[in-house]
Amino acid sequence: MPEPRDWDREWLELSAGALDAVSRADTLEAVEAARVDLLGRERGRLSALLKSLKDLPIEERKRLGPQANALKDAIEKGLESRRKALDAKALDAGLAAARIDLSLPPPPWPRGRRHPVSETLREMTDILSRLGFALAEGPLVENDRNNFEGLNIPADHPARDVQDTFYLRDLPLLLRTHTSPVQIRHMEANKPPIRIMAPGRVFRHEAVDASHSAVFHQVEGLYIDRRVTMADLKGTLSLFMRGLLGPKAAIRFRPSFFPFTEPSTEVDVRCLLCAGAGCAACKRSGWMELLGAGLVHPNVLRFCGIDPAQWSGFAFGVGVERLTLLRLGVPDIRMLYENDVRVLEKLS
Ligand code: DAH
Repeated sequence: MPEPRDWDREWLELSAGALDAVSRADTLEAVEAARVDLLGRERGRLSALLKSLKDLPIEERKRLGPQANALKDAIEKGLESRRKALDAKALDAGLAAARIDLSLPPPPWPRGRRHPVSETLREMTDILSRLGFALAEGPLVENDRNNFEGLNIPADHPARDVQDTFYLRDLPLLLRTHTSPVQIRHMEANKPPIRIMAPGRVFRHEAVDASHSAVFHQVEGLYIDRRVTMADLKGTLSLFMRGLLGPKAAIRFRPSFFPFTEPSTEVDVRCLLCAGAGCAACKRSGWMELLGAGLVHPNVLRFCGIDPAQWSGFAFGVGVERLTLLRLGVPDIRMLYENDVRVLEKLS
């Protein structure tokens, strides 16, 4: 025979501790634990007691039943008021933590920056202006005379082909293919001595790939004075390129051909990626092309009304995108136009 249950003792123990346990619960988790312990459907101690009331004689049931239900109500009320108090406390703490302190300095704003091509252009014109070159400009829409004829580019020259040049429909006009027509405009409108730089956009009818774009930028330079020689050209371009690429940049002058200069030269820099050892970027040659230049052809001077017996000069044309890629150490011209912030941030 099991011991007969001592209902009164069980009841006393439970009712004495229950409300106390509820009022001591100081987190929402503790409130829930107290609820499960007392009122849980499966194992709650009060639930169990209430369930077993049915085994008692009727008088006992009448005596204990209302007490037990009153305790259950009291526990439920106690749990609810603990929950409310703890919720309010959490809310207060949250509000205190989120308080706005208007005296704090604001978080730093991300700063905008110049596009790398603009940055290169700005540095180029900056260096040239310190070397005495004044800013000159010409229109993007040009005529054949300034873009080709005045520059001694013969009628059958491949550059004139519609493959290379954007012509305007129904008009004798084109999008300038280089900044060199600014030379013609300036020499026709001004007497020597002349020392100008002409930065700007140029256009070629070209499929876009890693090293070609249909729209890009050049900086043109023109210097006309008495007895200007290749030595002046070499000195000026050496200063110009070292200013842009750093004092250690090694450059070389290689004979070349342009219709509007004689003699003509192309300027290379020792590959900035492999230091001359030969890599994919410099096509294993150890050198990278920077620009074209030369002494202004007498035909060009004459075309503009300048006497080649009195005056001579040099000219040069630099591609800005190519130089920007070199400075960024980025292999593909298209990366300059995709506006990936990681690329854009590299040059400022
Ligand atoms: N106009 C040439 C081009 O776009 C570049 C150039 C070469 C410009 C030699 C010059 C020069 O002034 O002297 O390809």
